[in-house]
Amino acid sequence: MKFFVDTADVDAIRELNDLGFCDGVTTNPSLIKKSGRDILEVTKEICDLVDGPVSAEVVALDADTMIAEGRKLAQIADNVVIKLPLTLDGLKACKVLASEGHKINVTLCFSANQALLAAKAGATFISPFIGRLDDINIDGLDLIEDIRTIYDNYGYDTEILAASIRTVNHISECAKIGADVITAPANVIKAMANHVLTDKGLDAFVADIKAAGIKIL
Ligand code: E4P
Repeated sequence: MKFFVDTADVDAIRELNDLGFCDGVTTNPSLIKKSGRDILEVTKEICDLVDGPVSAEVVALDADTMIAEGRKLAQIADNVVIKLPLTLDGLKACKVLASEGHKINVTLCFSANQALLAAKAGATFISPFIGRLDDINIDGLDLIEDIRTIYDNYGYDTEILAASIRTVNHISECAKIGADVITAPANVIKAMANHVLTDKGLDAFVADIKAAGIKIL
């Protein structure tokens, strides 16, 4: 399973990249706003740092302007993935930009039907939002399962990029379902290393190390 880091914070990306836990990056307008950086400048910096795909989202709502913005974003670096919203205009832009050889991440997906259309429009990645569905009492993980079934039924090679990840359990459940990629905030990815029994076990070992004066170096 690939891990993308869902942030425009370059220091957070660098830390996970150095650990080998960053197979790519996703950004969106809210994350760009949070970074306080210019979208073109920060996207370039992230692309220089990370070998994998870096999603940068268009800001227009109509297909023609999305296509123009997508082409401009794609010029930043070879690993840019153009992120488009799941609207009919976004799908139209997806078809055009994908046919030009660009990689596309179709975002804001909340239903299996939307995911089916994105695959037919040539999307490289589909981003179903788990957390935002959970927020309105719909199980976001059910959507990941439904899309996995549909894509496997018909052999679509669009990758399922599970997004809006809020918990470490979202990640393990996505791995069990067979999502191709998860994108999550850096703190959620790092929290995967935590377990209360690991902490408790280590406390006991530290006490015994001290008591016995055990030294290696
Ligand atoms: C994915 O591409 C989105 O940027 C992101 O996962 C949205 O997450 P949120 O619902 O926590 O804002």
